[in-house]
Amino acid sequence: MPTFRAPRGTRDLLPLERAAFIRLERIGAELANRYGYRPIETPLFEQVGVFERGVGAVTDIVEKELFRLAPRTEDGETWALRPEPTAGIVRAYVQHGMQTLPQPVKLTMTGPMFRYDRPQAGRYREFWQFDIEAIGDPGPAIDAEVIELATRFYREAGVVDPEINLNSIGDAACRPAYIAELAEFYRGQIDRLPALERDRLERSPLRLLDSKDAVMVELNATAPAITDRLCDACAEHFAGVRAHLDALGVGYRLDPHLVRGLDYYTRTAFEIYPRGVAGQQSALGGGGRYDGLVELLGGKPTPGIGFGLGLDRILLALEAQGTPPVSEPGYAAVVVGADPAGTADRLKIATMLRAAGLVARAELGQRKLGKQLESAAKERAHFALIVGDELRDGQVQLKDLEAGTQKLVAVDDLVRELERAQASHHHGSGR
Ligand code: HAM
Repeated sequence: MPTFRAPRGTRDLLPLERAAFIRLERIGAELANRYGYRPIETPLFEQVGVFERGVGAVTDIVEKELFRLAPRTEDGETWALRPEPTAGIVRAYVQHGMQTLPQPVKLTMTGPMFRYDRPQAGRYREFWQFDIEAIGDPGPAIDAEVIELATRFYREAGVVDPEINLNSIGDAACRPAYIAELAEFYRGQIDRLPALERDRLERSPLRLLDSKDAVMVELNATAPAITDRLCDACAEHFAGVRAHLDALGVGYRLDPHLVRGLDYYTRTAFEIYPRGVAGQQSALGGGGRYDGLVELLGGKPTPGIGFGLGLDRILLALEAQGTPPVSEPGYAAVVVGADPAGTADRLKIATMLRAAGLVARAELGQRKLGKQLESAAKERAHFALIVGDELRDGQVQLKDLEAGTQKLVAVDDLVRELERAQASHHHGSGR
């Protein structure tokens, strides 16, 4: 047993997995750019109030899962690691007066989030999200655009046929009456409610709909649904979202019990699952509209919508469907040689190749030439460059490890020779 291990619920992303993450990050960054979202970076921690007010004090995320940074305080401030990106991005929108920019302001961020949750498959205490936010457009057309962007991410990442669950959870006009009705429903079942939910019932009845407790999941199937109780404005908005999704050919499933686990949502709410899989810890992403959040965090009333996709979960889904992970980058050439004193010559040649943009490594150890060639082959290097006596005439042996052929090449011609081989290789094998 090693003395130290990564903290429970976290994990090291070893090179192959990190490369798979980088691939997803690139897909996200490229896609966000294509849709006009600009990158932003906010701190990994914020004043606790940003999350208490933004995400909501009576949510699992704030009540149970917030990593509070204690006990250091400064001017009475206390901080917490960000459990999600939206509250911090909206805080930045308000702080930097972005309401004076052309609206909507479209922002994207990718990075780690922290929730002190019970670790299990697909549920980590540190996990990664790709997030986009469009702030300043009331919709409904942009709601559909945002959902379509989410589906395109999955498609480009290679997730087969993800399922979008869609709902509208109303607004300040229609939700209070619904919440009162919901509270009444739960009060009628008070004996069945677990202690935490009973406690929450009077503070935030909507949260009970989002409970992961098995008893609650069963109970919630029969709870009144907000969708049937939307005010005219919300119903019209929701119809608009669906009409735009239909026009774009984006499929979805209506889920009248979908409420999401964060308090800032109004109207449009959605979650994405691998097809045929339910359960909170398999959601590949989620998002929705938050028309009250900017004001909650001290700005002028401003509508907004966005989503966050869990990169860890997307990789799990790709693995589950049998999609091969990214392959390790191969060396174009490994520079080897029998002379233990030849390291400077080998390093010079590798340096020249790298300067030309080729992936190369020089043998810097004292191994026998045979062992060096064996390693190069094991690393699936395309070529071995064998540096020997011919170097006096400015030449090295170029050994094609895949074809098994070998020829003398002038050092001055190496870059051109390797580039040509690489080009035809890419064409030939489609790699
Ligand atoms: P969320 O549903 O809490 O929404 O999280 C979004 C996604 O992050 C989830 O669907 C899931 O894929 C991933 N995720 C959440 N918790 C974990 C965890 N413990 N381990 C692994 N993955 C996890 C939000 O965070 C909102 N900020 C989304 C949003 C943006 N709404 C509007 N704008």
